[in-house]
Amino acid sequence: MKLIDGKKVSEHIKTQIAQEVKDFVAAGGKKPHLAAILVGNDGGSVTYVNHKVKACEQVGFDSTLQTFDESVSEQELLEKIKEFNENPIIDGFIVQLPLPKHINEQKIIEAIDPIKDVDGFHPINVGKMMIGLPCFKSATPAGIMQLLSFYSIETAGKKCVVIGRSNIVGKPMSVLLAQKGYPGDCTVTICHSRTKNLAEECKRADIIIAALGSPEFVTADMVKEGAVVIDVGTTRVPTNETKSGWRLKGDVKFDEVAPKCSYITPVPGGVGPMTIVTLLRNTLQAAKKQMC
Ligand code: GUN
Repeated sequence: MKLIDGKKVSEHIKTQIAQEVKDFVAAGGKKPHLAAILVGNDGGSVTYVNHKVKACEQVGFDSTLQTFDESVSEQELLEKIKEFNENPIIDGFIVQLPLPKHINEQKIIEAIDPIKDVDGFHPINVGKMMIGLPCFKSATPAGIMQLLSFYSIETAGKKCVVIGRSNIVGKPMSVLLAQKGYPGDCTVTICHSRTKNLAEECKRADIIIAALGSPEFVTADMVKEGAVVIDVGTTRVPTNETKSGWRLKGDVKFDEVAPKCSYITPVPGGVGPMTIVTLLRNTLQAAKKQMC
């Protein structure tokens, strides 16, 4: 069993990005600038956004963090998005999800200018990804593709099961795995809450992507000997063994699944750092205007 070290790979890519930023600025380019909009104080969202801002500093980007109270109106958010769309200093920005229930998430996503949509959530970017055109790709699935490639994991003709059909992970993940070329060329099955015999589907898979948000859902009996298992789950589970009162749990029961795998990602330190580094890569591309 080989552990896929997302932290190590992400540090390696951050070093490359930092060098590219230096070169770009030395050649007269503007420092890339990522902005983030955070609504409310959900612990997970606050932590993720803080990590994104810190990562910007590490690679020499400028960043702006715009916070709003949970009670912010949809109109106020739309106005801020318009301001960021029109601000030439900002190359790319994200609105951290989920948003409070009174805000229409889709309307917010569609208000972002696709050329600044470094999360790759706008329908224009999603549509371009579907047909293999240059675009901003959703950071988590694109980060997983980078991990597969970094570890030279074979994908052509492999049976891949994606558990979860979210717009930001499951659906784009399935498209990228099935795309022509490497990494890709997989035969993909998407499983979800209405799938019959989900354990049987998983058992047939060479590659399992667990992205359903249910702690320790994937157990050893669902995994074929020698499978590659990628865990996207990051649920905060209460515990009295940590100072914070919670522990991050993935969607895979790591201790019993790991011995059966050829490769597996840990939580934390697997997919999470790759999501952040892919967002940085997208922002650098936005700054270089490579997506226009
Ligand atoms: N919520 C969970 N993952 C993400 C992400 O990649 N981007 C944003 N904006 N919100 C998220």
